[in-house]
Amino acid sequence: MVIGIDIGSTTTKAVSVEGTGGGAAGRRIIRKIKTRADDAVTSATGAFGKMIVENGIRMTDIERIMITGAGSSKLRGDLFGIPTRKVDEIQAIGIGGMFQAGREGIIITNIGTGTAIIDARRDSIVHLGGSGVGGGTIQGLAKKLLPTSEFSGIMELAGRGDLGQVDLRLEDIMAAGISFLNGEATASNFGKMLDSARSEDIALGIISMVYQVIGVLSVFAARSRSTGRVIITGNGSDNPLGKKVLTEITGMYHVEFEYPEDAAYTTAIGAGLSLPEV
Ligand SMILES: Nc1ncnc2c1ncn2[C@@H]1O[C@H](COP(=O)(O)OP(=O)(O)OP(=O)(O)O)[C@@H](O)[C@H]1O
Ligand SMILES: [Mg+2]
Repeated sequence: MVIGIDIGSTTTKAVSVEGTGGGAAGRRIIRKIKTRADDAVTSATGAFGKMIVENGIRMTDIERIMITGAGSSKLRGDLFGIPTRKVDEIQAIGIGGMFQAGREGIIITNIGTGTAIIDARRDSIVHLGGSGVGGGTIQGLAKKLLPTSEFSGIMELAGRGDLGQVDLRLEDIMAAGISFLNGEATASNFGKMLDSARSEDIALGIISMVYQVIGVLSVFAARSRSTGRVIITGNGSDNPLGKKVLTEITGMYHVEFEYPEDAAYTTAIGAGLSLPEV
């Protein structure tokens, strides 16, 4: 068994990869755990310990530990005497994304604290770029603009929001839409901000802005690689209102978004599936 650990900027994820056989095809992801990422060593050893204790895994069954994510640069040497190797985060997202999508030649948009967009093919995984706009942006803005910065609270507020109170829409400034955009499309995020805007409306404005930026960047990335689909991974993959925004982007730009199961674990899975460099 191999343990893959992803020490992200906000959360640490660990998975166990079991089974052998021909490449990734014969492997199964059996166990998954998530913890908050405080300092890198504490969260990596904590995630590993939780994985071992909660699942009754024997240390001798672990061949190696593969570590990736922002915090991995702070770790040195082997953990608990088990061979421990580092995996480049972009490679890990690419490998994990292809495993979850069940195919290669894909664009992956990983929505974590920030956002990274990756072109993943069997023989090359390339970082196309990304944006600092991501889950961290939602929580950071919520802290100052909303009565809560808990994710569930933000989502609950946003679910009752009216975007017309905060966003300037095309219909506010012109009689019809423009080119392929209809009157409901956002002309300027937060460009209206009526005095009557409530927390609910601002919460929805934040979610909309973040997922619109990520969606349109993903569209341009997909088009640059002549594909019409994008795989969404990271904790930001599991966000019903965000998905709704991305569906609207699909309506405008004809690029489809796909949400694999366990998308919060893509990077950890990719690390666990990576072969140690010799
Ligand atoms: N349902 C959700 N929708 C959108 N964002 C979310 C959701 N739940 C948590 N988040 C945000 O996701 C971020 C953490 O996601 P994830 O664990 O994928 O990132 P990370 O790996 O820690 O960061 P990064 O990959 O950018 O280094 C946090 O900023 C958190 O606010
Ligand atoms: Mg991450």
